[in-house]
Amino acid sequence: MRRYSRITGTGSYLPPRRLTNADLVAELAQRGLETSDEWIVERTGIRARHFAAPDVASSDLGLEAARLALQAAGLQPQDIDLIIVATSTPDMVFPSTACILQNKLGANGCPAFDVQAVCSGFVYALTVADAMIQSGAARRALVIGAEVFSRILDFNDRTTCVLFGDGAGAVVLEASDTPGILASDLHADGKHVGILCVPGHVMGGQILGDPLLKMDGQAVFKLAVGLLDKAARATLDKAGLTDADIDWLIPHQANIRIMQSTARKLKLSMDKVVVTVDQHGNTSAASIPLALDHAVRSGQVLPGQTLLLEGVGGGFTWGAVLLKL
Ligand code: UT7
Repeated sequence: MRRYSRITGTGSYLPPRRLTNADLVAELAQRGLETSDEWIVERTGIRARHFAAPDVASSDLGLEAARLALQAAGLQPQDIDLIIVATSTPDMVFPSTACILQNKLGANGCPAFDVQAVCSGFVYALTVADAMIQSGAARRALVIGAEVFSRILDFNDRTTCVLFGDGAGAVVLEASDTPGILASDLHADGKHVGILCVPGHVMGGQILGDPLLKMDGQAVFKLAVGLLDKAARATLDKAGLTDADIDWLIPHQANIRIMQSTARKLKLSMDKVVVTVDQHGNTSAASIPLALDHAVRSGQVLPGQTLLLEGVGGGFTWGAVLLKL
């Protein structure tokens, strides 16, 4: 009998410090930077974001999300036999944030590693976990997206610092006789490295290059609207399904205009799209599992429904996962 993987629990966590656009506009004004609530809302749909305290790392946010996902699945940390963390803001250069989180959780012993695909990280990590479960290498995986993007923002660059936030989301993915994950489609094109990157690196005990986020927003926007639709279609084709079979689209939460464009192309009305970008901003690899958990806990998405998850990010990376909840 074919082995599938299925999400059996979700969780998420946002650090308590919440900044509305008005709060951020006031903070940036003190640095001589001019922006406005109107510009941010009109161009992105973002109204608020959360920032972690200085002593809180991605593993701390991911830990809280993981605990809630385990609770929802009715499992203990010892039941987990695989941990994958998607992050671009790891606690350290190494070891992986997954290993640090594993120890905090008390799930020591199982394989644990990070996936680095920036904002596509969660769909990449979910696809890897699904493949490991299908192959028999794992039975019960924790797949987590956790980020502290506030650490890598340039608060002197208004074109990027108003866009991102911190947070974490997690799912428990378990082996199952019935599908769960139906299909996925992942891609990368490294020729676009420069349009979204943090170019700094460590050498000889020093950081060389700029360790803050750089983005050509328009280039990212244009690529995103074209590639997301292709990934969505390829994923539906692999599963033998069509647009009409999608109950909910749960896209990477970067910009409401990108989500509207994708929904239009899939002939989905916006009331079939889970939107949390207004309250969370862009939390990179955390954005999809955060949105999923909010939709599950609010009763928006229901067991048995078909969900299309999709993301784009630095690399350039993009991909989609189609699943039955
Ligand atoms: O998570 C990975 C994926 N990331 C994304 O998907 C992000 C994709 N890109 C975007 O979401 C959009 O390109 C942005 C939200 C980043 C920018 O929106 P845009 O409509 O492409 O704006 P723009 O870059 O064309 O800038 C328009 C104007 C410029 O002024 P001029 O040249 O027209 O006078 C900017 O200088 O808006 C100005 N501007 C701002 N004004 C007030 C840029 N940032 C701000 C700001 N406040 N924060």
